[in-house]
Amino acid sequence: MSESQPSSLLPEVITTARLVLRPSRPEDAPDIYEKYARDAEVTRYLLWRPHQSVVETQAFLVSQIARRGSTLDQAWVLTRPGEDIAFGMVGFEVFDQATELGYVLSRAEWGKGYMTEVVSAISGLALANQVIQRVWAICHPENVASARVLEKAGFNLEGRLEKYEVFPSLGPDPHDVYRYVRTN
Ligand SMILES: CC(C)(COP(=O)(O)OP(=O)(O)OC[C@H]1O[C@@H](n2cnc3c(N)ncnc32)[C@H](O)[C@@H]1OP(=O)(O)O)[C@@H](O)C(=O)NCCC(=O)NCCS
Repeated sequence: MSESQPSSLLPEVITTARLVLRPSRPEDAPDIYEKYARDAEVTRYLLWRPHQSVVETQAFLVSQIARRGSTLDQAWVLTRPGEDIAFGMVGFEVFDQATELGYVLSRAEWGKGYMTEVVSAISGLALANQVIQRVWAICHPENVASARVLEKAGFNLEGRLEKYEVFPSLGPDPHDVYRYVRTN
């Protein structure tokens, strides 16, 4: 990477109306494990299975932290101001001038508008950065909450991709997904 290229597209800490987004730390493992990573209902439409122990969560965080800085990919844990307890995560993977978003939230926090707030903020900041022309996300067609989040955050449904992704909790066969996109 040349000197002039940024080491990250977006700030390490982002404040939204109700939340503080910050980089994950290995010490977040117990909160993340307890609050969502072990919950099969949370991981139903994700690309990973529920974690079996906090050790698995810690290993995930360690590998996520080790990759930091080697790509433009970024991830943040969701916390409330003054509390600093991780109860969700949002991240993106960069592909040239596009980026794919992923997100997850503790079940206890569902339905409060948190992820709409976060996805709106992250996608808006990414598009304001000029490098990124397109932010996209996929979701299982039955994942109504995720589709609503994307619609409320200004994404448009781009299409239904057939037999696109294997969801480990749903079996070995690939499922169709909806792809949503937000552009400037
Ligand atoms: C998807 C997820 C992040 C949503 O987070 P959230 O903070 O609860 O979302 P919000 O509160 O901002 O918005 C959810 C919207 O979905 C709607 N919704 C939720 N469940 C629904 C259902 N079964 N049927 C219809 N609408 C539903 C809510 O009513 C709300 O829409 P509204 O504001 O128009 O009423 C959260 O449910 C989650 O973590 N799920 C498990 C992980 C996951 O699926 N991640 C996304 C992978 S693509």
